[in-house]
Amino acid sequence: MSNIIEVKNLHKSYIVDEKEIPVLNGIDFAIPEGQFIAIMGPSGSGKSTLLYSLGLLDRPTSGHYFLNGKETSKLDDKKLAKVRNEEIGFIFQSFNLLRRTSIYDNVRVPLVYSNVPESKHKEMVIKALESVGLDAKLYKKQPSQLSGGEQQRVAIARAIINNPTIILADEPTGNLDSKSGAMVMKVLQDLNKKGHTIILVTHETSTSEHADRIIHLLDGVIDSDKKVANRRYVEKEKYIK
Ligand SMILES: Nc1ncnc2c1ncn2[C@@H]1O[C@H](COP(=O)(O)OP(=O)(O)OP(=O)(O)O)[C@@H](O)[C@H]1O
Ligand SMILES: [Mg+2]
Repeated sequence: MSNIIEVKNLHKSYIVDEKEIPVLNGIDFAIPEGQFIAIMGPSGSGKSTLLYSLGLLDRPTSGHYFLNGKETSKLDDKKLAKVRNEEIGFIFQSFNLLRRTSIYDNVRVPLVYSNVPESKHKEMVIKALESVGLDAKLYKKQPSQLSGGEQQRVAIARAIINNPTIILADEPTGNLDSKSGAMVMKVLQDLNKKGHTIILVTHETSTSEHADRIIHLLDGVIDSDKKVANRRYVEKEKYIK
């Protein structure tokens, strides 16, 4: 299988008060298409920074990031935004849904950005909501009328509506109770089964074992990179209700 992501000697620093703060200090790995990776590590080790770089939300300071074999540092901002919108779905710990905006308008945001004709939106939104186990009738509601687990599944529906090859999730179960968290992990495992490459940041060992490979970061470098020996699968009955 070909590598969908390859990073070589990736560095990222932030400039704070004119001082350079190094956060990623030379990261190397390759991810074959269809893999499910968990990134773990202590707070401040650079997990979110790495995910944001992989999601093209932020540019690395130096090093190489090949996405589908293409060197991303050579893309201008416009091309970068296009690749981000079409190939990458992002899921955040705090859901990041638009408040006082219907579920329908939240989920179809990527379609608006990629100029998908409006006549196709409703059908695509319903399909995305159903694929994360939500009743499509929810589409008129607003985020505040849903539970945390439902809101996170709406956020996943938004992330997958353009059928991105890569799904990046930064502690997607961090704000959820264990049952809602299990539902979210089930949705991610189902998407992985359909062929999506998934990279998930988590603090919880039990959550990381749903992946097939775990990368541990420590102070901005890879401390370990291992296959999961006994991968966990969320049982179906935990998924719906
Ligand atoms: N925009 C920024 N400007 C300056 N420093 C930053 C910025 N974003 C992150 N940092 C710093 O970079 C380091 C790594 O942050 P990062 O958010 O990647 O860690 P993390 O591993 O995701 O931690 P957590 O588990 O707490 O989410 C931290 O020391 C943080 O303060
Ligand atoms: Mg983080």
